Amino acid sequence: MKTFDIAVIPGDGIGKEVVPEALSVLNTLAEIHGGLAFQFTQFPWNCEYYIEHGQMMPEDGIQILQGFDAIFLGAVGNPQLVPDHVSLWGLLIKIRREFEQSINIRPARYFEGLQSPLVHPKAFDFIVVRENSEGEYSEVGGRIHKDEDEIAIQNAVFTRKGTERAMRYAFDLARERNGHVTSATKSNGIVHSMPFWDEVFQKVKVDYPEVKTASYHIDALAAYFVTRPEQFDVVVASNLFGDILTDIGGAIMGSIGIAPAANINVNGKYPSMFEPVHGSAPDIYGKGIANPVGQIWTAKMMLDHLGEVELGQKLLEVMEAVLADGIKTVDIGGIATTKEVTQAIIQRLKNDKKVGRKLAR
Ligand code: NAD
Ligand code: IPM
Ligand code: MN
Repeated sequence: MKTFDIAVIPGDGIGKEVVPEALSVLNTLAEIHGGLAFQFTQFPWNCEYYIEHGQMMPEDGIQILQGFDAIFLGAVGNPQLVPDHVSLWGLLIKIRREFEQSINIRPARYFEGLQSPLVHPKAFDFIVVRENSEGEYSEVGGRIHKDEDEIAIQNAVFTRKGTERAMRYAFDLARERNGHVTSATKSNGIVHSMPFWDEVFQKVKVDYPEVKTASYHIDALAAYFVTRPEQFDVVVASNLFGDILTDIGGAIMGSIGIAPAANINVNGKYPSMFEPVHGSAPDIYGKGIANPVGQIWTAKMMLDHLGEVELGQKLLEVMEAVLADGIKTVDIGGIATTKEVTQAIIQRLKNDKKVGRKLAR
């Protein structure tokens, strides 16, 4: 029996609602497979934990997480209890940085039957490779002076290594997909970092002669995500540009509640972390209506990372079939609850005898 050791951090808000659902789905997949198991270790690190302990995770939190095969996280943030910058730097960003999860992969694709806000959505299917450790999210900056003289300063930091790493990741991915990389830039030289970004892109591109490329200013690109998303394959973007583009990716699918993500430690030295694109959604927390699909699709990305690609593919197909059947939460035009959507996915996995036979080892 192959066992995967997974650290589970439900976090705040709807993270606490959708994470248990995704774990049930993973357990169902393990049952169907027959030859593998998940050992989930839960960590109650969130804003309530902060109120009790004065920190988002224990002093040795990072060492505790170090030994796991992967980290499965819901969302972090309860601004009514703890300021966002405290909770995020203390948990989410801390894990991303300490474990050098420098690449954030965020797919978006058209699903049949979903209420996309696009009037005539064509079948789009792209992946945003977001630089995940530097850029506009650098720690260089601060606030000086007071009152009407106050100044906030944020320095974006783009290292050649970090920029090149994100781009190579995107080109490698494009080689396995449709052979096209789009760079999200702002190359008119107003922002100092972007001509540098373009230079690195030009340099990396030379090593991938078979991959076609395009470069768009981020403002135009954001609009193209809405007007012609079907033209994109792999999109490489800086930290903040990638953050914004991937909420648009979620929105054009029908809801940010669907969009999955993977924070990847590329050298395999540390665990990678799997958490959806969406946040803790305080506005709907406690109502049982959060869309669990983003978290469940994120579980599929974790399966891929763990080498269980066939199982992940099956999960994606079943998820898509359940959505096409109209079993969906309110954010995508349905009436089902979080639990009803999950149960439909679980039932369909169990009923699908063909899957069982194919995956049984
Ligand atoms: P959000 O993603 O939590 O919510 C934005 C909108 O999308 C809300 O209207 C919400 O109801 C809806 N939504 C999000 N997920 C949904 C789901 N699964 N099903 C249905 N609807 C869903 O973003 P926000 O409101 O800007 O942030 C709320 C908190 O979450 C803040 O504290 C923020 O810092 C934090 N946050 C955390 C993460 C993370 O941990 N990865 C990501 C984004 C935001
Ligand atoms: C995301 C979130 C985070 C980010 C926030 C909560 C720091 O928006 O994962 O997309 O900007 O990276
Ligand atoms: Mn975001």
